[in-house]
Amino acid sequence: MCGIVGYVGGREAAPIILASLKKLEYRGYDSAGIAVLSHGKLAVCRSEGKLENLELALRQKPISGTIGIGHTRWATHGRPSELNAHPHRAGEVVVVHNGIIENYLDLKEELLGRGVKFDSETDTEVVAHLVNEKINKGAEFLAAVQKTLKEIDGSYALVFLNQSDPKRLILAKNSTPIVIGCGDGETFVASDIPALLDYTRKVTFLEDGEVAEVRADGFRVLDRKGKAVQRSFKEIAWDAVAAQKGGYRHFMLKEIHEQPRAITDTFRGRISPKNGDVLLDGLPFGPAELREIDKIHLVACGTAWHAALVGKFMLEEIAQIPAEVDYGSEFRYRFPLLGSRSLLLLISQSGETADTLAGVNLARSKGSRIVSICNVVDSSLARKSDGVLYTHAGPEISVASTKAFTTQLTALFLLAVGLGRLRGSVNVSEGRRFLRELIHLPKKIEEALKLENDFDQLARELKGAANFLYLGRGLNYPIAQEGALKLKEISYIHAEGYPAGEMKHGPIALIDETMPVLVLVPKDRYFQKTMGNLKEVESRGGKTIVLTDEPGTFAASAFRVLTVPKTSHYLMPIVLTIPLQLFAYYVAVHRGTDVDQPRNLAKSVTVE
Ligand code: M6R
Repeated sequence: MCGIVGYVGGREAAPIILASLKKLEYRGYDSAGIAVLSHGKLAVCRSEGKLENLELALRQKPISGTIGIGHTRWATHGRPSELNAHPHRAGEVVVVHNGIIENYLDLKEELLGRGVKFDSETDTEVVAHLVNEKINKGAEFLAAVQKTLKEIDGSYALVFLNQSDPKRLILAKNSTPIVIGCGDGETFVASDIPALLDYTRKVTFLEDGEVAEVRADGFRVLDRKGKAVQRSFKEIAWDAVAAQKGGYRHFMLKEIHEQPRAITDTFRGRISPKNGDVLLDGLPFGPAELREIDKIHLVACGTAWHAALVGKFMLEEIAQIPAEVDYGSEFRYRFPLLGSRSLLLLISQSGETADTLAGVNLARSKGSRIVSICNVVDSSLARKSDGVLYTHAGPEISVASTKAFTTQLTALFLLAVGLGRLRGSVNVSEGRRFLRELIHLPKKIEEALKLENDFDQLARELKGAANFLYLGRGLNYPIAQEGALKLKEISYIHAEGYPAGEMKHGPIALIDETMPVLVLVPKDRYFQKTMGNLKEVESRGGKTIVLTDEPGTFAASAFRVLTVPKTSHYLMPIVLTIPLQLFAYYVAVHRGTDVDQPRNLAKSVTVE
């Protein structure tokens, strides 16, 4: 996720672009850049790191001009660096981009074949060259963009500026947001509303497949076929802080709702549904090396550790590779049996968790391969690993991890299917089936999100309970643990997550009429067994809240039965996570705690 902005009007563009980028820094903050048409020439300024570095560079060397574009980056392709920062330039064209161009490697190869030289490692630079090539061959600016869009696949919000066409910006959208704001003799463009609110409240959103031509005195929207589209304005009444949260009350809720998009971005460009295969882009090992792996050690902390527990099921059952899971803080001080055929798989949103990072040195000394699943590009963990499977969740601001978790599960699923295909435990048709289910997952998540009101209501009713128990079986018992952790973190209520079958060995003593018990009962191979555990709770007076995809089978004795959409066995943990996140969120809201910054917690724990 990146932030993009554009300005055309009568004022100095650079200060407006910088101020707007500041409002979008939550979307990315590893590098930033700006391009302004200054005295008839493009002037580009980019810098690595936070926006303040760009500000400093512009203070030292100001750029004057009344049309320009800007970008704050959250790296996906190419590490954070000045060269990879946007805008990207080819000839007289500059572009800023939010999204992922899936077929950029093929396009890059073709361009290299035609003698084009690249300055960066990004997918975006390909787009700049494609447009520039067409302009060089005589195409008009807008037509060159429209033709280029037919060649690229993926998600994008793009803003182009052309030195030889100084009065307009060209915009294009597919799957990632872009909004146009109208002022008096000036027009603004941004990824999100907060960037516009200091200048205008009259906004309009582009739709997928649309292209817009933006000038100081207004704009024109064209559909996929180039036909003009009428667009009306929306008046925005939000205040600026609320707008940064996209209209949500908290970042956590916003991030919960971002999950369909984040999951899509994580598998986008990595799957070949036709061949039932997965492109393990982050793994720098050849097929022979990957076939050699005899054990996977998953190491992580907190929520990422729960993802690792689910990953163990996926890797052992799908890829048929023995796997074990450790907490980072434990792994670093024990003597695990690592060797040159072992793979250490570290999972971390931030890539900066000290206990997780400590596993790297241990594995290095034993000659093991090291791969991480990480959200922050070029984080310490990413740099120390041999390979990284990035989750493309975008920045996670809320301390309580939500979209990072479900994208970690998505990455683990991709890894299990990819390794399974490579090692022969998954054949083509099974691979196709796995990937078909994955493609449908974002829709299922959207359906699960519709349970929001039910969980808001349930949270109101149960917010006074002093303890909660969460139960699940198989690969859903880590989800019970994750549900309990979410509740603990943000509502400060004591909660335990347990494998349902283990309850009778201890926690059952806690059950009475004051104890709400959330039970995950999907219709899987554990169904009857978990039903038995449910009865054990009910017969002791416990209040059962059932989450299931098979609601018909539950007796009226349950306190509440809530239905989640059906999905396949290995993706059910992701679907079941959504209501548990919503429940924890609303309990915290109704108890009045600080949801996004709960007491005593830090977003990333960089100390032991
Ligand atoms: O950045 P990481 O994924 O390595 O962080 C690990 C944990 O500190 C983190 O998941 C923590 O448990 C969250 N607060 C959970 O919501």
